[in-house]
This record gives sequence, structure tokens and C-alpha cells, in this order.
Amino acid sequence: MNWEKYYDLYPVNKELIWLNNCGTTPTGKPILDSVKNFLDAYSQKGIFTEVEKYVQLKKNISETIANLISASPDEIGIVHNTSEGMNFLSHEFCFEKDDEILLMENEYPSNVYPFEHWQSHGVKLKFIPLADNPEKFFHNLVTTVTKKTKLISISLVHWCTGMPLPITQIGEYCKSQNIELIIDGAQGVGLVPVDVKKMNISSMVFPAWKWLLGPLGLGVIYNKKENLEKRIPIFKGQNSVINADEYLPYKSDWKKGADRYEYSTSSMSDWVYFKSSLNMLNEIGFQNVQNRIYELVDYFGVLLKENGFEISKDNFSEKTGILSVTKNGLDLNKKIQTLKDNGIICALRLGRIRFAPHIYNSKEQFHKVIEVLTRR
Ligand SMILES: Cc1ncc(COP(=O)(O)O)c(C=O)c1O
Repeated sequence: MNWEKYYDLYPVNKELIWLNNCGTTPTGKPILDSVKNFLDAYSQKGIFTEVEKYVQLKKNISETIANLISASPDEIGIVHNTSEGMNFLSHEFCFEKDDEILLMENEYPSNVYPFEHWQSHGVKLKFIPLADNPEKFFHNLVTTVTKKTKLISISLVHWCTGMPLPITQIGEYCKSQNIELIIDGAQGVGLVPVDVKKMNISSMVFPAWKWLLGPLGLGVIYNKKENLEKRIPIFKGQNSVINADEYLPYKSDWKKGADRYEYSTSSMSDWVYFKSSLNMLNEIGFQNVQNRIYELVDYFGVLLKENGFEISKDNFSEKTGILSVTKNGLDLNKKIQTLKDNGIICALRLGRIRFAPHIYNSKEQFHKVIEVLTRR
């Protein structure tokens, strides 16, 4: 694989060393070209342009995502972000007083706030204590569950430490206890293998702009067929119903698939962006993409350890693309500022520096990072 090609396709490499790809990702040239082409055509023929058509775009995005996570395209809807998708899911349930929803300690707010409204109905939100390895986390989860637990909503990969959660094991356990499992896939989809059926994931939501290199403000909701058959969304808009393009008379039949969550006019240019990033990754092969990210992280991890840094990923049983690092005696706030002043973009999370490379980064860039990190 010619990875240099992807280095060259990302203009950000001329300006910065972008190692915050589990935060947001800059635009690559093929994506820029697709969006430019679309907007050019849109300026000439508006919605009648043949360059991109809504139905085809939708098909392309949902089929690629469905293949990636082993779902059916009908179970995939395009939303705006994780918070929106989680709110959709949360409001579809019928919990009773004293039922329990389990979330993860220090979870990203998008997988916490959408469930808070349940507290006013007497439903308890409980937090599974964090752990520094998957085995301990599973133990913490099992010991937090009670007979009242109805739902667990947790991340695929932890957003601060980069730890892949043991979802297959958790999914099996949830199935045996009749507990519904929702996954926030933000930090994991595109980075770690996901099979929603094998993992017993009931629903999942994730944004486009991290490992999938898509646009800000688009996300994906997966909801399994059985859920779509028995629940309806909290929002109903022009596009929620069968035969939506015939505006009158009003319709009562919901769309059968997860496209019911695309409740009204969508942002076509963002969809074009997303289709383009997904096509690029699909052409490389998602497995190759994941392996390249692991290779970069392993390479960087060795350099960091040689220079006295401690890295969290050494405690994990599965591969990750996120390095959470620290070093005794290092002033992390000062260091992160120095990194930024030197054009190196990363994040400070839970008292550690978080680096997340993607396929367009190069190994040479890590040497520059080490030089700045170890500079006195
Ligand atoms: C675990 C997790 N969930 C969700 C998100 C993004 O949330 P939203 O899509 O609502 O902006 C992030 C972003 O960093 C995240 O780390």
C-alpha cells in the first residue's frame, strides 16, 4: 500500500501534524473535489443536477456502513451527531419507576445527557466505574447490574484512554440477562472491528468526522430491525413516512427502516462529503485502514516508551488507535501548549496527552513530536 499517496492527499500535512483524529479530522483532496464538483453542479442546476442524487447517495452511504458493521442497510439512518441519535433512542423506551440505566463513569456527555430525562420519571442512572483494563471493566459492569437494570449504554472505545471495551463479552452477558445494549461508536467505528449481530448490539450511534474522515455535523444511527418494528421515534417530520414526497394527504405509516430518523430535508453537501470519505476508505479496505492505524500507533508507542513515557495501551488486550500518555514530572498543560505552538495537534484528556493518528499521517511526523516532547 502506498501510504505516501494519502500523506500527499491531506493538505493539513503542510501546515500541522494532526494527531487528534479521534477528535475531528481535516478534509482530504478527493473529498474536497467531490464536494466542489457537487456544489458546482448545484450552482448550475440546483436540485436537478445529475452529479449526485439523493437516493443514490443514501444507498451508497448506508450500504458501506452496513457492510462495515455487519448490519442491513435498512437498519442504518443518517443523523447529525451522536447526541441526536442517542436522544432518538432514549426517548423510544418505556421504562418504569426504579428501572436502571447503566452508563460509564467519565463517559462523553453525548452518551449521558440524552438519558437524564428518565430521572424525572424515577428511573435511576448508574455509572459503571472505569478500569484500566477490559477485564476489570467487565467485572465492574457485572457488579453494577441489578435485577432492575434494563439498559446499558456504553462506548466501543473509551474516548480518553483509547481502551476498546470488551463489547462481545458484554453483549453476551446482556443477552443472558435480557438487558438492552446501546453503543456509542464514536471512538471505535472505523478503528476496531464491529459486528453488531455477533456483539448483540441493539442500537449504535456514531459521528462521521472521526475514524471515518467524514464531515462535521453528520452521524449514523443503527437500530436493529426488531426495534424498528416495535418502536417509533420522538420526532416526526416530512421525511419520516412512507411515500414522503407526496406531501398531501398527510401520512400515518412510518418508514420501515432507520431512514425514518432522517426526518426532513438533509444536508446534501455533507452527504456528498461523507460518501466520498467512505468510498476512499472502502477502496483502501477498512481492514487495511485499521491495520495502518495500529502500525502507526505501535511505531509511535515504541518511540514514546524509549523516551520514558508510559502508555495506556500496554494494558489492553485489543489493538487501539489512541495513545494516552504521561511521564513522571512532566507539566502536561505546558507541554500541550508547546506541542500546539509547534503545530502538533493532540488533546489533554483525564490528565494524560491523547494522540490519535490516521492513515494520512507519517512515521516521520512522530520523530518531530518526540523531539518537541523531550525538549527541555
Ligand atoms: C465517546 C464519544 N461520543 C460522542 C462524541 C461526539 O458526540 P456528538 O456526535 O454528539 O458531537 C465524541 C466526541 O469526541 C466521543 O468521544
